[in-house]
Amino acid sequence: MGVFAGKTAVVTGASSGIGRAVALRLGAAGAHVFVAGRREGALAGKVAAVAGAGGVATAVVADLREAGAVESLVERAVADTGRLDVMVNNAGVSFRGPLVDGDPEQWREMLEVNVLAPAAGARAAVRAMRACGAEGHIVTISSSATRVQPPPSLYGFYSATKAAVEAITTSLRQELENDTIRVVTVIPGTTATNLGRHRPELVGGLAAALGEQAEPSADGLFSPETLDRVAAAGRILASADDVARAVMFAITQPIELSMSEIAVGPARRPVVSA
Ligand SMILES: NC(=O)c1ccc[n+]([C@@H]2O[C@H](COP(=O)([O-])OP(=O)(O)OC[C@H]3O[C@@H](n4cnc5c(N)ncnc54)[C@H](OP(=O)(O)O)[C@@H]3O)[C@@H](O)[C@H]2O)c1
Repeated sequence: MGVFAGKTAVVTGASSGIGRAVALRLGAAGAHVFVAGRREGALAGKVAAVAGAGGVATAVVADLREAGAVESLVERAVADTGRLDVMVNNAGVSFRGPLVDGDPEQWREMLEVNVLAPAAGARAAVRAMRACGAEGHIVTISSSATRVQPPPSLYGFYSATKAAVEAITTSLRQELENDTIRVVTVIPGTTATNLGRHRPELVGGLAAALGEQAEPSADGLFSPETLDRVAAAGRILASADDVARAVMFAITQPIELSMSEIAVGPARRPVVSA
């Protein structure tokens, strides 16, 4: 029996990358994991992968930019299992580029997915955790882009959304001091995922620099196996599972302990150009 046997977890952005790796770890630890994202086919694969790791998962197709979507996701988990113990606000988007050439519609998408959805998701999670008396954990996935000062201009708006969600998470942690709900910010460094899907040549370029072949599939995405291989090759990218292990470490601490932040990333930083 895993440490999360009988517990319910929701992971947003679980159709790929860090969210997928967290869902696999939670499932293997016994949780019933509700995996959410927009891509139905990818989510079906994650349900099978969690089952393969010995867990139980339910796929929920949700576009977190839609009003009420994250609340419905939490409601679904509670309706099916009667409880909520872990909420991982992981889904994110990153459009990089100089601010002066930026697209305000991309800024809006980053605000909605990276800031508003985690805030609304945390709010819904607190209500659900209180209702079932859970010793709960809320996880925000931020980014090391908030720690580089001054923020790299190519990450300008993305860094701003992550700084905002970190500030919200800190406030929430303080609000919940007297609840049995702990709140942690996990801050990944550069991680081998498809986050840079708008610029697939970045992962391809890093792989080439490491002497690895990494071709995206027809949809422009790299497979988890390819990404893990690239991460392992040069140790200049973390793997999604490196971040997932940090999440698991935070949410397996005693409820009396507040673990506020964990930064996790490769020891060496990649040099990524525009
Ligand atoms: N990779 C890195 O170097 C890195 C570094 C620091 C922080 N992070 C953070 O880590 C988190 C996970 O990203 P990742 O690196 O694992 O990239 P990823 O593989 O692209 O995962 C992003 C996830 O977010 C979901 N998502 C995006 N927009 C959504 C929307 N409107 N509604 C619902 N789901 C949506 C995607 O699912 P669908 O496409 O199925 O909707 C996908 O599963 C993000 O918050 C990111 O900012 C990543």
